[in-house]
Parts: sequence; C-alpha cells; structure tokens
Amino acid sequence: MHNVAACARVRAEGFSLVDSGLYREVYYPLYRSVLYILVYLPPMETRNPFPYGRVVTGEDFADREQELEDLIRDLEAGQSILLTSPRRYGKTSLMVEVLRRMGELGHLTALVDLFGCVTPADLAERLVREVVVRHYSRMESLARFLREGLARLRPELTMHPDGTVGLSLRKDVEAVGEEAVLEEVLDAPQALAIRKNKRLVVVLDEFQEVGDLDGRWLLKLIRSKIQHHDSVSYAFTGSKKHVLEQVFADQDGAFYRSARPYGLGRIPPRAFQEHIIERFGATGLSLPDGMVERILSFTEGHPYFTQQLCHEIWNLGTARRTVSEEDFEGAIGLILESQREFYAHIWDGLSGHQRRMLRALAKDETDSPYASDFIKRHRLKSSSHAKRSLGALLEKQLVEKESGTYRVADLFLREWVARSLVV
Ligand SMILES: Nc1ncnc2c1ncn2[C@@H]1O[C@H](COP(=O)(O)OP(=O)(O)O)[C@@H](O)[C@H]1O
Ligand SMILES: [Mg+2]
Repeated sequence: MHNVAACARVRAEGFSLVDSGLYREVYYPLYRSVLYILVYLPPMETRNPFPYGRVVTGEDFADREQELEDLIRDLEAGQSILLTSPRRYGKTSLMVEVLRRMGELGHLTALVDLFGCVTPADLAERLVREVVVRHYSRMESLARFLREGLARLRPELTMHPDGTVGLSLRKDVEAVGEEAVLEEVLDAPQALAIRKNKRLVVVLDEFQEVGDLDGRWLLKLIRSKIQHHDSVSYAFTGSKKHVLEQVFADQDGAFYRSARPYGLGRIPPRAFQEHIIERFGATGLSLPDGMVERILSFTEGHPYFTQQLCHEIWNLGTARRTVSEEDFEGAIGLILESQREFYAHIWDGLSGHQRRMLRALAKDETDSPYASDFIKRHRLKSSSHAKRSLGALLEKQLVEKESGTYRVADLFLREWVARSLVV
C-alpha cells in the first residue's frame, strides 16, 4: 500500500516535470528544432565543389546565363554557330549544358568529340555512334535505321557487357573507301531528325581537328552536305581560332558564312564571385574578407584556373575547417609544386630565344611584342627574332592572343617562369 503510494507520487512528480514551464518553453522546442534540422537539412557536401579538368555540370557550373540564352535561341531557330575561345574557357561544359536544356525542351541532341580523330573514318564512326546509336535503345530499331539510313553501308554492331553498343565501319572503309563512307554517314543526322520528326542539335567539338585530317575535300564534303540539313542545327566549337577562322571566314573557305561566330569570354567577376562564395558555403566554409576578390584578380576570371585555385584553397581549408589568408599563397605553391616536372618539360622543349620571349611575356604581357622598347627591355635581339619565337609559342598554344594582348596561356606556368622557378 505504502509502495503503491510512493510509485504514484514518483509518477506524478515525473509528469509534473514534463508539464513544467521549463520543459514546454525550452527543452521541448529545442528538441524539436534539433530533430527538424537533422531530418530536413540537406547533408553538407563533402566532395570538393571546384572540379577542374573535366566537363562541369549542375551546381558546379557557374553563370553563362546570357550565353545559354543566345545559343539556345539560335540553335532552336535552325541557326548553326561557331563557338570559339582559348582552351579551358568552358566551351564543352557550356555546350553540354545547352544540350541538356535543349533535350528538356524536347529536341534531339548529340555531342561528337573530334579530339584525337586520326582519320576521316574515325570521324564517321564517332558521328554514327553519337548521332544514331545513342538514340536507339532497341537493337532492332537501330538495325532498321542503319539498313535504311545508311543503305550503302554494312556497319558492324557489337553489344558490350555494360549494355552499350559499339559500332565499326572498318569493313565498309575497306570495301568502298573513306570518301564514300563519309558521303553516306554525313547525311545521317538529317535522316535521323526526319525519322524522329524532331529538331536535332549536333555539337562538333574541337572541330579544328577536321582540318588536320585530310585536307580540304573533307571540309568541302561536310559543307556540301550540311547546307541541306534543315532539321539539324550544328554547333562547331574549337580553340585554334586562327584555323577555324580560316575555315569559316575565308571567302574561299569551305564554310564561308555557314555558321554564326560566337566568342566565349571569361566569366564576369560578379557572377563568379557569387558562385565561389556559394560553393564554399555549401560545404560549411567561408572565406576571409577580400579573399574572393584576391582570387579573381589573380585569375582574371579564367574559368579553369579559378576552379583550380579554389580547388586547392578548399582542400587546405577543409583540413582545418576554416580558410585563412595564407591559404591563397599556400594553394599557389602547391599547384606550382605539382606542375614542376610538366613545366620543366615544356621549358626543355623551347629554344633559347623562345624561352626569352616566354619570360618576357610572363613578366610583361603586351600588345606590341615587336616594338623596339619591348625588344630592348627583354633583350630579344630583333623584331624578326621576336616574330619567329612568338609564332612558335602561339603554335604550341603556350601563348595566347586575347583582345590584342599576348600573354602566357597557362597562368601557373606564367607564375613559374616569372618567379624564375625554371630549373
Ligand atoms: N561555367 C563554368 N563554371 C565553373 N567552371 C567552369 C565553367 N566553365 C569551365 N569551367 C572550368 O574550366 C574547365 C575547362 O572547361 P571545358 O568545358 O573543358 O573547357 P574547353 O572545352 O573550352 O576547353 C572545367 O573543368 C572547369 O573547371
Ligand atoms: Mg573542350
């Protein structure tokens, strides 16, 4: 009897604790908020949010809103485009995003990477694979399209263990020759668009490679075919601006006026700034005051080098859970250290005068590299010496000309040379 009363008292006191103001007003709301945060907050990202050296998509992709709007409008209207920029400005990433959005709008899309094509037959195979094979999930429908669309050819199909389909035109090339194969294959995009009753957007990435394949017949053939493709919009992209300009702008050139030129610049500071702060923030890191401005004034908004620098700063900051002022120089040091062998190899491949020219431009970018004061200041002997060396450096893509100014293309190579880290 006594025990029962005691138990009842304990229970009553327990309840009185739960019912107390302290519990209702402090503990319980606190407990609910913690629970809410744990359940509803997205988990903090832990991978490095600044990838570089590969196509960037989704939340890693910064800005380019105006470019996306312009390019999608043109391509939807059937206007082909020629997108040029120096390497690593983000052409491929931009076009992948264009295609993603156009796919969502209901268009067919294909990206054909021409980098590393060695023969016209390589081009033919890549084209059929990306334009045709990828658009058929059923083997029978694919085989039917190939039978009807490429009537003169007998492409060999192979089923890979991962479910993808491989295609080879080797036997056709042996049987009828490269030119005949290309003749047939180049009309496949239009045939596919008509068959599927949709607009098809084809990106021919690194298009300048075609110029190196086999002279002018191939360019002429491509032009003569695609000018009749009214259901296909083409985007030609490339970084060797002078090669592409020759192909497209030259009145005798095979592509004269067939595509609207579009130059891709760097990412404007404000947009990049927002992106960088947001990406650090998404992983729980904030930057010290003035750091983002310092990063962007060093990289001048160059997409690749900005990402590379932020990547290293993020690595340093994450290890200590905070980014400090010193991480800026620390990250540059790490990058220079990791590239040391590569830069030494580049340096070894240059003649004495080319090295002088590279060092001159590393310290002193200029729009008049043949002017006598520039030549005198950097001891470049004569303007004809300067012309020859600069020509070679441009050809190797070690130097770029942008808005009239010559500069070392790789920001960190520039830093390495300017800091006289040469071995
Ligand atoms: N819009 C962007 N946002 C963020 N990073 C970018 C963007 N565009 C390019 N980059 C950076 O530059 C790198 C090179 O981009 P990529 O599309 O391969 O250039 P390109 O095709 O012009 O050589 C990417 O790996 C990425 O680090
Ligand atoms: Mg690219």
